[in-house]
Formats: sequence, structure tokens, C-alpha cells
Amino acid sequence: MNLKEKHSALDIQKIRKDFPILSRKVNGKSLIYLDSGATAQKPKQVIDAITKYYSEQNANIHRGVHTLSQEITSAYENARATIQKHINAKHTHEIIFTSGTTESINLVATTFGKWLKPGDEILVTAMEHHSNILPWQQLCEEKSAVLKVIPINEKGELLLDEYKKLISSETKLISITHVSNTLGTINPVKEIISIAHAKNIPVLVDGAQAIPHMRINVQDLDTDFYCFSGHKVYGPTGVGILYGKEQWLRKLPNYQVGGGTIKTVSFAKTEYADIPLRFEAGTPNIEGGIGLAAAIDYVNEIGLENISVYEHELLEYATKKLSAIEGLKIIGTAKNKASVISFVIHGIHPYDMGIILDQLGIAVRTGHHCTQPIMDKFGLKGTVRVSLAFYNTKEEINKLVKGIIKAKEMLK
Ligand code: ALA
Repeated sequence: MNLKEKHSALDIQKIRKDFPILSRKVNGKSLIYLDSGATAQKPKQVIDAITKYYSEQNANIHRGVHTLSQEITSAYENARATIQKHINAKHTHEIIFTSGTTESINLVATTFGKWLKPGDEILVTAMEHHSNILPWQQLCEEKSAVLKVIPINEKGELLLDEYKKLISSETKLISITHVSNTLGTINPVKEIISIAHAKNIPVLVDGAQAIPHMRINVQDLDTDFYCFSGHKVYGPTGVGILYGKEQWLRKLPNYQVGGGTIKTVSFAKTEYADIPLRFEAGTPNIEGGIGLAAAIDYVNEIGLENISVYEHELLEYATKKLSAIEGLKIIGTAKNKASVISFVIHGIHPYDMGIILDQLGIAVRTGHHCTQPIMDKFGLKGTVRVSLAFYNTKEEINKLVKGIIKAKEMLK
């Protein structure tokens, strides 16, 4: 199927009606939301699922014989199965609910990290979000281990030859982002994983920025761990997923322990539950799990392929239009990109640009985007970042371009 046919498969105006917030005004102007990389907007299908949970289904899971508890336990476990199918995990017990990508990464760093010895090495890339740097940096400090960084080129692409050179007999884990939240680069994770596996090194993929844009197949990637957040994929905040291969999850030591993680407890000895419950201490974010499954169902109804094709079209259109603005420089020009565009304009502070665009109802993110090492690499304090979703339109991009030109006039 060619791109045009695919594009016509999406009725964007109809889709936009699913997102109540898109019809509101901001500063007297129609909202143009270009910050989906920070958090995506929620369709009414997700909002309705959460409302239904609190108005008709609220009870605790895995803790009661009464009807409400049984019903919501099934709904929560069905949500787990929806996520399993969505990322093509082999088993439902390979899906751990967490509070978000950050907790998923911290869970692996805390548990896997217990095995680390002085001199062991962990590899990350130069384009990681702070959430995929700090857990490893802290761990390496605690364990006298070494954090090594795979460099990137001026386009924001990983240097694979350098990656191969950095792998050593001391490398214990490689933790990489699938898509850069700042540069938009889509990393060749399958290749990276296969290189690591040839040396028996496990890989964790931070999929926070990939999950809304493309089909993820964890078995095809052969990744050991895959992490993402609900709110980036049109679901609620405060819920996320850690996918882990069964053999890893069974081996990892406990993370947080407490209610829900056990089979039997006595002061002499506690027998812990099987995975996934062994990693899910306390009453979980039930509305989060239910809302995330509703979001995944919604995305699948629209079709991830349709989404990828349309967003790519938007990315190309926006890149062309923005590049034509005098003095504007795009940061992150990798060959393979998701719909994220960071830019700077000569002589204008990103923050000032963000404030003026906001006055026009246009929401963009400004600053370092929790990726200060990227800013250092490009010699910047910050950028303006436009992150596009399938509910955005070319008309909105035209308004953004007009807004930037107006802001430039005001700020010169
Ligand atoms: N990680 C989110 C972003 O890139 C918050 O904006």
C-alpha cells in the first residue's frame, strides 16, 4: 500500500473529536498541542474507562471473594493481557505494572544491580533521557562499577562502530533508548541487541518515546527488558510497564516487597509469589492499568501502521516548513526519525519563544528536555521541541510557522 492510500485511511477530524481537550481555548486561541512527547492527550475512550472504573467497578484487586473484587481483578489481568499482546510478549507474567518508564528502569537497576561487582561496566548512549542515566550512574557509584557512553554524531545518530569497541568482557548490561525524546532519532535497537547478545550481554530498551509511534514486538527485537509509560501512549499518568523475559524476571532478586508479593508470611520465613506479582508490591494503580488498556485498544483501532505513516508525513512537512525559517536550525537530523523536532533560532532564547507561542495557544516544550548531555554535545542550553501525534494537522504546523515568524519579529 502506498503512503497516500495509508494517509487517506485516517479521518483526522473525526479522530480529533475523540480528544475533548483539543477543542478548548488557551489564551483566547484554539489550542495547538505540540507537546505529546511530554505527555499525550487522552481520548474519551480512556477517560470513559477510568470514569466507569470509579463509578461502577471500584474495589481492590487480588484481595477479595466479593463480586466487585473478582470483577476488577479480571479486568486488571485482562489489561495485562492486552499489553502482552500489544508488544507481542510470550507470556502475561512477563508484563510488570510500574508507575512509569522511570520506575521500570529503576527496578532493573536496583535488582540486576545487586549482582554488580567493582570494575563491571554498564553501557548507555549519549542521547539518553536522565531517567536512563541516573539509575545506572548511581548504581555504578555504589558498586565501583563503570558507566560507559556510546557517542553520537552531529546528526544525532549512534556511532555503531564505537559501540562495538566499547563492549568488553566487563560489560554486564546495555541500556539504550529506542527513540530520543529530544532528537527524535530512532535507534537500530534490533541490531544493537543482536551485537550484545553475541557476547551474552543483556539489553534494556527505554521505549517511552517509541511506544506511541510504532509497532513494538519484543520477541522480534529479542530484547531482555522493554520499558514504557502509559501517559505517552494516550493512557493515564502514573502507570507504566516493565517487560522482562521470563528467564530474567525469575532470576532477578526482589524489588519492593509488601502486600501482594507473597504466598505465605511468617516471622521465620516468607515465601514470595511468582512473577509478575513478586514485583508488584502494594495496591497498584488500578485505574492506570484499566486506562492504559483502553488506550492500547484505541490505538489499535486506529492502527499503528496508519499512525506511523501519517506521523511521518507530518514530520516531513514540519521539517520542510521549519527549515525554511531564516535563522532556524534543527537539532537532530538523523535519517530515521520519529515525529519529534527540536530547534534553536539564532539570537532567541528557547524559553522566550515558548512563552510567545503559548500566547498564541501553541504548546511546545522548551529547555533541556531532561537530556543535559545532549545539550552539552551540541553546545546549547536548550531547544524548542515540537512533538507531533496523529491528532495534529498540517494546518496546525502552518500556524506554528506563522507563530515562530511573529515571535522572531517581536524578539529581535
Ligand atoms: N520525558 C518527557 C519529555 O521528553 C517528559 O518531555
